[in-house]
Amino acid sequence: MKERVLSGMRPTGALHLGHYHGALKNWVRLQSEMDCFYFVADWHALTTHYENREVIEKNVYEMVIDWLAAGLDPNACTIFLQSRIPEHAELFTLLAMGTPLGWLERVPTYKDQQEKLKDKDLATYGFLGYPLLQAADILIYKAKHVPVGEDQASHVELTREAARRFNHLYGREINAEEKVQTSLAKLPKDSVKRFEKSRKAYQETGDVQAMEGALGYIGTAPELDTQDRERLGGYFKGTGKVILTEPHALLTETSKLPGLDGAKMSKSYNNSIAIREDRATLEHKVKRMPTDPARQKRTDVGNPDKCPVWQFHIVYSDAGQREWVAQGCKTAGIGCLECKQPIIDAILREQQPMLERAEPYITNPKIVRDIVDAGTEKARITARETMQDVRSAMGLNY
Ligand code: TRP
Ligand code: SF4
Repeated sequence: MKERVLSGMRPTGALHLGHYHGALKNWVRLQSEMDCFYFVADWHALTTHYENREVIEKNVYEMVIDWLAAGLDPNACTIFLQSRIPEHAELFTLLAMGTPLGWLERVPTYKDQQEKLKDKDLATYGFLGYPLLQAADILIYKAKHVPVGEDQASHVELTREAARRFNHLYGREINAEEKVQTSLAKLPKDSVKRFEKSRKAYQETGDVQAMEGALGYIGTAPELDTQDRERLGGYFKGTGKVILTEPHALLTETSKLPGLDGAKMSKSYNNSIAIREDRATLEHKVKRMPTDPARQKRTDVGNPDKCPVWQFHIVYSDAGQREWVAQGCKTAGIGCLECKQPIIDAILREQQPMLERAEPYITNPKIVRDIVDAGTEKARITARETMQDVRSAMGLNY
């Protein structure tokens, strides 16, 4: 069985090449290696855009087209829409009951974003809950890996804490002690003695060998049934049953593509290139990119380190071409427009297959909806199963 991967994006605007190089390219690579679930986080978008919902509506399917253009294959991964799976909201609500307020107030993005997005009133209950909703997104699929950027690491950490807390609160059976004794009573007396001795060794000194021996024994003892085994395993390790699994952030090495002006690429900074940009706009944008301010005239020498175009060469050019740039720039051997041409060519080459893949979806939007419908249905099966476990652990199946 392949390991589960889960990630989401907020549909707040057209995706750009920063998204492609920073995240999407990695999503595409992962789809052939793992069991990948990718979703449109439209509720998360609402936490900041509750006053401009039209932005979200416009971008949900546009974003999925960008994903497909970038190379996500609906036969290789599961693509779905958060707001169509109400179980996310149910798990969020249930997790909220035992989540200390301080955990959420201390997540760094909470204050950061409030500072950054001053034009929006983010002193809302929904915005405070943002990382906990994200925790529900992840935990409901028992995802092992969460490919995200550095900025989201604290949200994955909160997810781990929420899972641990849930397992601690609800992973123990009612009358657990008594039930452990009943299970142990099924085993021969001397085996119980050895089991208890190993348990002590493991819990006091972390003796892994003792653990492996004991768990091996209870795993095969014919006197025990599955429930006994699970119960005694938890008793041995001093943990409850694991209902929600702790995920890891998958912070893969990605090539960072900055914006046209060298700052972080972002639509709101007006320095981005869309994933599906038309040729003329692309050429125009790159030709107008600022360069090393020292190169006023063609004959002035420059320094690539002071030029955003150089950052693009780091992503798009091979060693030979970079050498050509560095030399040509420092000796005024090449002009800036000349330096930019290979970038334009490289982006056009990169975008060509994306434009081709997007074509059928643009002409026939119904296919996109069908892909999302099918993915949502598939994801919901897992979400429902997890909620069964969650409800039963919490004693809500009356
Ligand atoms: N918060 C993420 C972002 O802004 C989007 C997101 C929502 C997400 N739920 C998630 C990412 C679950 C990974 C897993 O990029
Ligand atoms: Fe930038 Fe290239 Fe011009 Fe040098 S030659 S300043 S690297 S665009």
